[in-house]
Amino acid sequence: MDLGIRGRMAIVCASSQGLGRGCALGLAEAGVSLVINGRNRASLERTAEEIRRAAPVEVTPVVADVSTREGQDALLAACPNPDILVNNNGGPPFRDFRELDRESMLAGVTMNMVTPIELIQRVIDGMAARGFGRIVNITSVSVKMPLSGLDLSSGARAGLTAFVAGVARSVADKNVTINNLLPGSFDTARLRSGFIAAAKRGRFSEAELARRSAEEIPAKRFGTPAEFGQTCAFLCSVHAGYITGQNILLDGGAYPGAF
Ligand SMILES: NC(=O)c1ccc[n+]([C@@H]2O[C@H](COP(=O)([O-])OP(=O)(O)OC[C@H]3O[C@@H](n4cnc5c(N)ncnc54)[C@H](OP(=O)(O)O)[C@@H]3O)[C@@H](O)[C@H]2O)c1
Repeated sequence: MDLGIRGRMAIVCASSQGLGRGCALGLAEAGVSLVINGRNRASLERTAEEIRRAAPVEVTPVVADVSTREGQDALLAACPNPDILVNNNGGPPFRDFRELDRESMLAGVTMNMVTPIELIQRVIDGMAARGFGRIVNITSVSVKMPLSGLDLSSGARAGLTAFVAGVARSVADKNVTINNLLPGSFDTARLRSGFIAAAKRGRFSEAELARRSAEEIPAKRFGTPAEFGQTCAFLCSVHAGYITGQNILLDGGAYPGAF
């Protein structure tokens, strides 16, 4: 399917690996030029090269911490008028909520709620004026389904979800959409790091923990960053202009509700 966005420009935050990288690749395959981002220069440059080999689009790597004002300035300097913004960031570490002090709670809220809102504030009016805009926030299945130990991540992302629900309606008539993608378990370094840490604490190997975890998912497997990225690209397409303010689960059936 031609997504109708060839020649558009996207900023994809936190995209040197994992889900962000999947979104960047999906958009590149649809002909979108990219600003990609991460804090580690070597892995970001490597990803930029891989995307250039995969698709004939312009790829500009911006080494920056997206949670900071300077990082956001650098992203917008590289692409002042993006047609597409994919908000992504690291997530807070797995931790018992009793151990969270005020500083770490504020850091988590900054990462997963304030940062995407700040970027939306800075791009949305330009998108509305130009009559096209697609904003996708990578959140988590934990917005709908509690995952104990990831309470801060869930809370901050739920805050973002509620915040943008109203904002999305305010620009719908300008062909600007805002949607959230809710990943369940995707095979990325972040998912694997959880198994590695649990294997060190317990009696099962990383591979066994991964096998058991996949077994609990109705699809009996983890998702791939590539399929996540294709969903993101579709939401950014011309065909998805009537989808806005939605929370789209990609979880292999893990969330056990009809709605
Ligand atoms: N994978 C899953 O199953 C899953 C499920 C639910 C939610 N999520 C959420 O989805 C998001 C992406 O997860 P993932 O699995 O793709 O993680 P990942 O494989 O660890 O990749 C994270 C990416 O973000 C970059 N990054 C992290 N912090 C950054 C910052 N402050 N500024 C700029 N770039 C930053 C990393 O590069 P650098 O380290 O070089 O900066 C890397 O490219 C996370 O928020 C995660 O909590 C993931």
